[in-house]
Amino acid sequence: MTTAPPAPILEVNNIEVIYNKVVQALRGLSLAVPRGQIVALLGSNGAGKSTTLKAISNLLTLEDGLLASGSIRFNGQGTAAIAPQQLVRRGLSHVMEGRRVFEDLTVEENLIASTYALTGRPGAAPPDFDLVYGYFPRLFERRKGLAGYLSGGEQQMLAIGRALIAQPQLMLLDEPSLGLSPKLTEDIFGIIARINAERGTSMLLVEQNATVALAVAHSGYIMENGKIVIDGTAERLASDPDVREFYLGLAGGGEAKSFKDIKHYKRRKRWLS
Ligand SMILES: Nc1ncnc2c1ncn2[C@@H]1O[C@H](COP(=O)(O)OP(=O)(O)OP(=O)(O)O)[C@@H](O)[C@H]1O
Ligand SMILES: [Mg+2]
Repeated sequence: MTTAPPAPILEVNNIEVIYNKVVQALRGLSLAVPRGQIVALLGSNGAGKSTTLKAISNLLTLEDGLLASGSIRFNGQGTAAIAPQQLVRRGLSHVMEGRRVFEDLTVEENLIASTYALTGRPGAAPPDFDLVYGYFPRLFERRKGLAGYLSGGEQQMLAIGRALIAQPQLMLLDEPSLGLSPKLTEDIFGIIARINAERGTSMLLVEQNATVALAVAHSGYIMENGKIVIDGTAERLASDPDVREFYLGLAGGGEAKSFKDIKHYKRRKRWLS
């Protein structure tokens, strides 16, 4: 006997987003995040990845963006009328691009600032700072220091830690690898995979670095020009010849192509339109 798969924790249906009344950033984008899974959202600069996350967490109006059509459901409920901070209280945490932390506050104060998400929340446990320090021992060592003095990698850890304090069911992660060394990227993605495995936290992981994202994701989507062009399991995407060539920088034989070749190829590609 087969049982129906559980309802996705996040469903995005055919959304269109327009900035400043003229710039169409998303053109009928749909995706789903199954409960308990990591889903990668991949694509090159300007594809609309961050816009997708901002649409989900209702942050578009801050940038004169508008969800012009389509719908988004979190835990089966439409999000259109729910304010961003209410979405956080309901278990949706967004780790923004560029690791936003309060630079003039200490590491510990940054974590305390996130506890607002737990006040008045039915069933919320007390804030668990040790949980964050357990995943990121470096933050424990630096807890009394100003966040502005942390390294880029430490700030990314703190941004993820701030999201964790809010006890999310779904985390939106916008390019956690941005500007980090390969070693640190690997470390942070290892922690992301552990948080998912140990806590069952669902994740929508935006990345330009397809290799590292597909290594931890269960499934993924690739977007171009505001819509999805390919989707599938992480294994299938990682072995797809087009994906390998355009996003993993590997030609059929497995030899690495130079970044310049790939950029050149991308500029004239027609296969996705
Ligand atoms: N606040 C804004 N106002 C006007 N246009 C915007 C705004 N934010 C994004 N855009 C445009 O929307 C499109 C998608 O941008 P978005 O930031 O979502 O892409 P991205 O995939 O996250 O790119 P990157 O990998 O560079 O972060 C781009 O054409 C961008 O110029
Ligand atoms: Mg972006």
